[in-house]
Amino acid sequence: MINEVKIINYLRKNLTKQRFNHVLGMAEFARKLALHHGLKGDKAKLAGLLHDLARNWNEKKLIEYSKNRFLRIPHKKFIMEFQPILLHSFVGVDLAKKIFHVKDKNILSAIAKHSFGAVQMSSFDKLIYVADLAAPDRTYRGVEFLRKIAYKNLDQAFIEGIKKKISHLLEVNEKIYPEAVRVWNFWVKQD
Ligand SMILES: [Fe+2]
Ligand SMILES: [Fe+2]
Repeated sequence: MINEVKIINYLRKNLTKQRFNHVLGMAEFARKLALHHGLKGDKAKLAGLLHDLARNWNEKKLIEYSKNRFLRIPHKKFIMEFQPILLHSFVGVDLAKKIFHVKDKNILSAIAKHSFGAVQMSSFDKLIYVADLAAPDRTYRGVEFLRKIAYKNLDQAFIEGIKKKISHLLEVNEKIYPEAVRVWNFWVKQD
């Protein structure tokens, strides 16, 4: 059994106050949303607590760690060069295994996929993805709408979530991670 208190202590030491509050709020939201959709609440809370373990690492540390641990990452060169922050999902999986001995495949998969999704997404993966984007501390335009559909339809909320992230990148003239485009193309109009 994984010790929640141990994780929370780790988070308090390794995250900024703001990120710490995000993670706690998100984990509780994930639990509620999971129960609402007939998924496992405690497991969702755990995945929530673990999803941003490396979120406050700097880019250099994320890159070095990923190289040293030979982490498997889609479009690794692109991430390293343009969006190293995305590495925090994959580093997070590695830390969850190493520090907290997490072996649950559903939890590890959800952590890996929480930043930009994947072509293979279980309902649990979608739940964590959506809970992160619609967490209580999020205040961007449209978040209320996302929260509302998160309770109605997880598939739809997931697609809205990808749309939000990609359109934000377009708005601020940022490059778009090729894997995120592949994920969008796969899921759009799946209904
Ligand atoms: Fe994250
Ligand atoms: Fe997060």
